[in-house]
Amino acid sequence: MKIIGTGSVIPKKVVTNDMLSEFLDTSDAWIYPRTGIKCRHVISDEKLEDLAIEAAKKALDDAGMKAGELDFIICSNVVNEYVTPSLSCIIQGGIGATCPCIDINCACAGFIYALDMAESYSKAGKVKNVLIVCAEEPTRMTSWKDRNVCVLFGDGAGAAVLTEGDNIKGTRLSAASATDKLYQIRTLEPTPYITKEETSIPMQMKGQDVFKFAVKASSGDIRHLLEELGMTPDDVDKFLLHQANIRIINAIRDQLGQPEEKFPHNVENHGNSSSASCPILLDECNKKGLLKKGDILALSAFGAGFISGAAVLEW
Ligand code: COA
Repeated sequence: MKIIGTGSVIPKKVVTNDMLSEFLDTSDAWIYPRTGIKCRHVISDEKLEDLAIEAAKKALDDAGMKAGELDFIICSNVVNEYVTPSLSCIIQGGIGATCPCIDINCACAGFIYALDMAESYSKAGKVKNVLIVCAEEPTRMTSWKDRNVCVLFGDGAGAAVLTEGDNIKGTRLSAASATDKLYQIRTLEPTPYITKEETSIPMQMKGQDVFKFAVKASSGDIRHLLEELGMTPDDVDKFLLHQANIRIINAIRDQLGQPEEKFPHNVENHGNSSSASCPILLDECNKKGLLKKGDILALSAFGAGFISGAAVLEW
């Protein structure tokens, strides 16, 4: 397939590090050097599904495609207000599409998994035009009393429209179960038969373990995929990595031995917006004219699970 349109929408409320230090024992002097984050956009009176629908419409406009031409919608999302119906069904109605749709929960690696699915469905001859929307609200998963976690995240939606083509050169997916390193637990409705005690636990994270996993998984996925394709990191024009922490991005860059200018980033303005991070960055680079036709892009993301993946494509 090939990507022919991108779109993104971020919430209007900007929360700076200084604003966090008004109610948390934290500071810009702690957050910025350790993460590269200066501010994040946080959902206030918006609804996540509205951001997702708007991002989808922008991507369709950019692609010059009508919603009725879509064959499949894949929505990557960890949590939203609805348990059911799926967010992809809500997006389908919001944009006026009629095609089948599916939600996936692959945490921060969702865009890569969605690209892989779209490419696989296309290769199987089942679809021609696919819309991917990654819409995430991680700021509703963390405790805003926990400085270890809440300072890292921001919300947003990013979308891409794909059609037939041979621009996706390859994808690689990985997973390594580590359920105690990054998780959130919510309680479900009680039944008369539930006897065990249940408690909701906001997002918990073993930061240094996640950091090490992220660097190893992402640099490994990119290297292995490039090798499979008979390419090296030198052949890549831009690396679009999951925007979790500038130090993680820099460590992956060191592992790959590549120059700084090949790694566009926006973590300073968004924090970690889970699976929306990669398509928001892709859209920003696209709209700023940073991507030239024929550029080789390597995308990579990692997150809870642990799950990770990489994709190499020609722009
Ligand atoms: N403000 C001030 N202090 C904070 C803080 C905050 N927001 N968050 C944590 N601290 C404190 C801790 O309580 C701890 O204090 P202690 O040593 O007294 O126990 C100390 O800072 C830890 O500092 P340090 O060891 O320098 O942290 P770090 O270098 O490991 O950086 C992270 C912490 C979270 C920034 C880093 O581990 C990280 O980015 N991990 C990956 C997280 C991630 O990307 N998750 C999502 C992946 S999809």
